[in-house]
Amino acid sequence: MAGTIIVANRLPVSVELKDEGKFAIKESIGGLATGLKSVHAEKDSFWIGWSAIDADDLNAERKTVIDETLIKKHRCLPIYLDKEEIENFYYGYCNKTIWPLFHYFPNMTTWEHEHWESYLRVNRKFYKALEKHLRRDTTVWVHDYQLMLLPGMIRESHPNVKIGFFLHIPFPSYEIFRLLPMREEVLHGILGADLIGFHTYDYVRHFFSSTRRLLGYENSFGKISLGNRLAKVDAFPMGIDYERYNRAGKVGKIRENTHKLLDETSGKQIVLSVDRLDYTKGIPQRIKAFSKFLELNPQYVEKVHLIVIAAPSREEVDYYAELKREVEELVSEVNGRHGRIGWMPVWFFYQSFSFTELAALYRGSDVMLVTPLRDGMNLVVKEYIACRKDHRGVVILSETAGASSELSETIAVNPNDINAIADAIREALEMPIYQQLHRNKILHERLKRYTVKHWAKDFLHKLSENAFGALHTKTIWIHKESGIGIVNKFKSSKKRLLILDYDGTLTPLRQLPEMARPSKDLLQLLRRLGRNKNTTVLICSGRSRQDMQQWFGSLPVDLSAEHGIWIRSAGEKWVQHLVLKDDWKALIKPVIESYVDRTPKSFIEEKTLGLAWHYRRCEPDQAHVRLNELRDTLMEYIQNRNLCLLEGNKVLEVRDVNASKGNIVNLWLQKQHWDFVLCAGDDVTDEEMFKVLPSKAYSIKVGTESSDARYHVKDCAALLELLNHL
Ligand code: UDP
Ligand code: G6P
Repeated sequence: MAGTIIVANRLPVSVELKDEGKFAIKESIGGLATGLKSVHAEKDSFWIGWSAIDADDLNAERKTVIDETLIKKHRCLPIYLDKEEIENFYYGYCNKTIWPLFHYFPNMTTWEHEHWESYLRVNRKFYKALEKHLRRDTTVWVHDYQLMLLPGMIRESHPNVKIGFFLHIPFPSYEIFRLLPMREEVLHGILGADLIGFHTYDYVRHFFSSTRRLLGYENSFGKISLGNRLAKVDAFPMGIDYERYNRAGKVGKIRENTHKLLDETSGKQIVLSVDRLDYTKGIPQRIKAFSKFLELNPQYVEKVHLIVIAAPSREEVDYYAELKREVEELVSEVNGRHGRIGWMPVWFFYQSFSFTELAALYRGSDVMLVTPLRDGMNLVVKEYIACRKDHRGVVILSETAGASSELSETIAVNPNDINAIADAIREALEMPIYQQLHRNKILHERLKRYTVKHWAKDFLHKLSENAFGALHTKTIWIHKESGIGIVNKFKSSKKRLLILDYDGTLTPLRQLPEMARPSKDLLQLLRRLGRNKNTTVLICSGRSRQDMQQWFGSLPVDLSAEHGIWIRSAGEKWVQHLVLKDDWKALIKPVIESYVDRTPKSFIEEKTLGLAWHYRRCEPDQAHVRLNELRDTLMEYIQNRNLCLLEGNKVLEVRDVNASKGNIVNLWLQKQHWDFVLCAGDDVTDEEMFKVLPSKAYSIKVGTESSDARYHVKDCAALLELLNHL
C-alpha cells in the first residue's frame, strides 16, 4: 500500500492534554479507528486526521512537539480543530445531522445552516492539509461520514489522483436520505471518488437509488457514469484483525477493576454488552430485555450477570448525555428490582476499556449481546467471536447491524422486540456445547478469511484497477493539444461545415423540452460562426420545425428539424424534404397515450413523422419497467411497417425509417467539397450522423457513452468552449 494516504476524521490515536505542557497519547475507540489501525500499523501508509484536541487550548510550542511525536511515532499528520469547528462541524453537522439521519433517527436530526457551512470549511481544511502530499501516483483513501465532500474537492483539482471512499455507517434508504437539505452536494462530494465502498449491499442499493433519483445518474454493473469518468460502487464488509484477537493472551495489562470484575463474577454465567454509549446501539432496550428475561426465568436469579460496558462518546451532544442518565436509571431500577444481597444482576461501566481488557472480558463471557437499533457494521461482535479461541460462546445479533448479513450462525433478533431478546438470552444460555462449537467453527472460518487486512487489500486492489477509471472506447478525449489541433485546422481551411445537434449538445438536457431554450451567449456564438463567410453551420435536430424556427429562424445558419424531415437553408423558407405517410400515427398514438396515463410525469411529443414518449421526470424505477413494456409493445406494432424505434436520452421514439439525420448530413456533405467538417452530437440519433462522415471529419460525442465519433467531450460546456475558439 505504498503511497497510500488514509484520511479520516479521527486518527488511530487521540491526544489528551495534561497539566504543565504534558500530553498523553491514547488509542482511539470506535470501529473505524480500531479496525483500520492494524492496516496502518503494517503498511507504508500515512494517516491524516483530527488530533482530538481543541486547538484553542494549544500554544505553538506544544503543537510542534505533538506534531513531531505523531508523525514520527505513528505516521499521523494531525489536523487541529478550534472550538467553533468542534461545535459546528464535529458535534454539529457530523453528529447532530448526518449520524442520526443515516441511522434512521430523523426525529433526532437537526438542520442548522451554520453547521453545514462549518462542514464545508472543515472538509476544505482537510483538503488543504492533504494537498501538499498529493503526487500524480498518490492513492488517497477517504473514510466516513465526516469527510463526504473531500473526494469531490480532491477530484476537482487533481483529476488523476486515485481516490477511494469508504462509508463506515449505513447509507440510508432514499426516503430518509432525501430529507437532508444539502443532499445533492453530499452525493457530488462522494462521487469524486473512483471507488466508493459500503459495508453491505443494501447500502450500495440505497446509494444507487439516491444518485439516480436525485442526480439522474444511471448505474450499470455497479458503475455510475459521470461525464468523463466512471465511479465504481461496491460492498466490502469490514473485518477485524482476527489473529490479534484470537491470540490475545489470557491476562494482559488490565486494570484492577477489570480483575475484580472477573473474580466477582466467576462461577456465574455472563452476558456481555460492549459499545460506545450511543443511542443507535439500543442499550436501554437490551437492559430491559435482560430484566424481562429474569422476570420470565426466575431460575436464573443469582446465576447470571449482565455486564454493560458503555465507552463515553460525544458527551457534548444532548442526546448522549440524556442516554447516559436513562441507562443509569434503568440499571439501578433493574438491580433494585431483581438484585439480592451478594448478587447484582447488571454491572454498568461508563468507561473505555483497552484491547487487553476487552479481550479478557470477551473470553470470560458466555453470551455476547449485540442489539443495535442500527449499525453500519459492528466490529464488537466479530471481536468477541475471534477471542473465543475455544469456539464456545453464543452471539445474539440484531438484524439491523451490517454484520448480520454475514454472520447468519448467530441468534438474530429484532432489536426493538424486548420479548424476543429475552427469549434469545435464554436460548443462548442454554445452547448445548456441540451446537456452539458447530456454529462458531463456521463463524471463525469466515472471520479468519475476510480480515481487516484482506478487506483493505481487496478495496485498494479494486481501486488500483484502471478498468473503471478510464472509459473503454476507441473514442478519445479532446485535450488541450487536440483542441488546439482542431482550431488550427479550422483556421487554415477554406470550406468549413459545422454540423451541430441541439439538445444535449449545444444546451444541457432539461426536465421539459420547452425549458431548453438557447441562451443569449449560444445565439451570439452561432450568429458569429454563421456570419463567417467560409463557414456553413447546420443545426441538425430532432426538434419540431416550430421550435427551430422560433429559436434559430433569424440566424444565418442552416436548419434541419425532426430528424431531417424539414430543412431550411440560411435565410430561405422551410422545405419538407421527406414527404412520407403518417397514417401509422393513429394506430400508435393511443398505445403511447395509455403509457402516459399510467406513468405520472411522462408525456407524448408529436412530430411530423414521429411520436416520442418522454420519461425524464418520472420516478426512475417505474419508468424503467414501463419503458421495457412499451418497447415490447411497440416492437409488435412496427413490424412490417416502415417504422423504427429510437432510444434517446430518456425518450423512446417511433418514427419513419427514412427520417434520419444521416440522410441530411449526406445531403450537406454533397453540397461542396468541404476541407473541414466538424459534427457534434450526444445521443443515439446522432450516431447516424457520425456513421456517414468522411474519415477526416472531426466527429465529437458529448458525454461518455461509447460512440462512433472520433472524440469525446465531457459536456455541453466543453463543446461550447471549443466552438468559442473557432
Ligand atoms: N472499544 C474499545 N473500548 C471500549 C469500547 C469499545 O476499544 O471500551 C472498541 C471496540 O473494541 C470496537 C470499537 O470500539 O473495536 C467499536 O466498534 P463498532 O464497530 O462495534 O462500533 P462503533 O463504535 O464504530 O459504532
Ligand atoms: C463510528 C464512526 C467513526 C467514529 C467512531 C467513534 O465508528 O463510523 O467514524 O470515529 O464511531 O466516534 P467519534 O465521534 O468518537 O469519532
